[in-house]
Amino acid sequence: MSPYAHITGWGMAVPERILTNQELEKMVDTSDDWIVTRTGIRERRIASDGETTASLATKASLKALDVANIAPAEVDLIIVSTSSPEYLFPATASIVQDNLGANKAGAFDILAACTGFIFGLNIASQAIRSGSIKNSLIIGSETLSRIIDWNDRATCVLFGDGAGAFVLQAGEEESGLLSAVMRSDGSGKDMLCIPGGGSRFPTSVETVNQGMHFVKMNGREVYRFATRVMVQSTHEVVRKANLSLDDIDLVIPHQANKRIIETAARNLNIPMDRCVLNIDRFGNTSTASIPIATCEAIAEGKLNPGDNVVFVGFGAGLTWGAAVVRWSGPFPGLRVVRPPAIRFYARLRSFVKRILRKIDAVIWGSLDSRR
Ligand code: ACO
Repeated sequence: MSPYAHITGWGMAVPERILTNQELEKMVDTSDDWIVTRTGIRERRIASDGETTASLATKASLKALDVANIAPAEVDLIIVSTSSPEYLFPATASIVQDNLGANKAGAFDILAACTGFIFGLNIASQAIRSGSIKNSLIIGSETLSRIIDWNDRATCVLFGDGAGAFVLQAGEEESGLLSAVMRSDGSGKDMLCIPGGGSRFPTSVETVNQGMHFVKMNGREVYRFATRVMVQSTHEVVRKANLSLDDIDLVIPHQANKRIIETAARNLNIPMDRCVLNIDRFGNTSTASIPIATCEAIAEGKLNPGDNVVFVGFGAGLTWGAAVVRWSGPFPGLRVVRPPAIRFYARLRSFVKRILRKIDAVIWGSLDSRR
């Protein structure tokens, strides 16, 4: 029988710097009242100079590995979902792999905007279910503050920075990811996009002058699409898991707008106390919002082993999706691994490898010149 993909570890990392609505009132023509009534957001976290998408992802991953009690060297696959990657390439996941010292892991990024974490969760789960891998890290990480136009009140009040990570492990018991739905409709590509900096409009003085490297959004259209697909995909994924909505203990939706979540919950006939909402403190952290909200739900005792939880999200692409998970919690283990303590050795190992690569290049360079 094929193994199940259990979620056995979780962790989140958010920058310390808080940006309040009152501060935004001084930056653009907006008000605390407008932002709170239209979105539910009161404050968001903003990365400081030293913080990046990879550094937040690494912090969240170390916490997740610590909870799961597994060493970085036991991880077979690292997937980072992000719309604000460290570079166009290499993948942010490769940097996280090196930071962690996960020397046996394949690593790659996925780009499905806010839905990316759900897609990544499904990809990693299917790799486990097929028997191809045993342990995986799936991370949602964003530093959206770096790609926002801080003069555009329609977008700058919405987004925040942060990261969340899950550890997935193979297990025999029928639990973990039970079903998933992944959807996309590229005809809505213009509703939410960063037009410049890719192969279509490579970075130039002109693209920068026109602000094409910033997020552009048609908020009203995204709003209408979001309320529709959240309901559709929740129904579909619950059906696929052979469950009914009454069997669902908790819904953890993408935190884009409190009103979108309330409308979807109303249409699903699910009371708000069965929905996790933390947008007031973090804003929209895109693909990081679901794992961050999950970590908070666990800390508050809202999600326990045996519970059925729905993750549901939507985003640029357009993309949307949902997953049903029977919550597992960490596997019991006899030994104690301390992944954060391994961080020092990971740094040392990376440093030594870079030095060796330089020495190698010098030796081969001198041999080549003698030929
Ligand atoms: N402060 C004050 N007024 C504002 C602000 C602001 N920050 N932003 C817009 N307004 C004004 C508009 O200019 C408009 O003024 P007008 O009537 O004079 O033209 C008025 O407020 C209403 O604007 P709408 O866009 O109709 O406002 P709406 O009620 O739709 O709320 C919002 C806007 C919050 C953006 C909403 O549409 C929304 O949440 N949409 C979904 C966005 C979303 O979820 N995006 C993320 C997707 S996930 C991802 O992939 C990253």
